[in-house]
Amino acid sequence: MNALVIYDSVFGNTERIARAIAAALGEGTAAQNVSAVTSTDLTSIDILFVGSPTRSFKPTPAITAFLASLPADALKGVRAAAFDTRIPLESIKNPVFRLVVKAGGYADHTIAKALAAKAANLAIPSAGFIVLESEGPLKEGERERAAAWARSILLA
Ligand SMILES: Cc1cc2nc3c(=O)[nH]c(=O)nc-3n(C[C@H](O)[C@H](O)[C@H](O)COP(=O)(O)O)c2cc1C
Repeated sequence: MNALVIYDSVFGNTERIARAIAAALGEGTAAQNVSAVTSTDLTSIDILFVGSPTRSFKPTPAITAFLASLPADALKGVRAAAFDTRIPLESIKNPVFRLVVKAGGYADHTIAKALAAKAANLAIPSAGFIVLESEGPLKEGERERAAAWARSILLA
């Protein structure tokens, strides 16, 4: 099994989740910043995780551009899953802004759609992991939750 975790991260929280996912998949699985990914990294992979912080309801421009740059069948035969980090709705005091954030959605769905558009098999539902404030820290237990979620792709 060849697995790869591609992520972007502004404050380091999504990177921590990406590293927890890579560790959960076993030795030999790398967590690679999207800026360092080349097309050869994608050859002969069976499993791919792609994650981003949610920024204004979407993935970062680097993740969006990377996914858009892939040929249409680039991920054929690859089991893939999307993840993001996000702030908890309950932490948003202003009720109008809370509604806007809820309606706006999260990066995981956009990433999952882009993966499917490149012929990936979305083997498990995408997931969002919570940061307590914009810059972090991650909510307690999120790394462990990410590890368990990631391992579920091995049985999917
Ligand atoms: C400019 C900006 C926009 C953001 N937009 C959202 C958003 O739409 N929804 C959300 O839940 N969190 C939002 N956040 C919080 C980020 O999701 C949070 O900073 C991120 O998960 C941290 O991950 P990182 O450390 O990998 O950058 C935003 C943060 C910033 C700075």
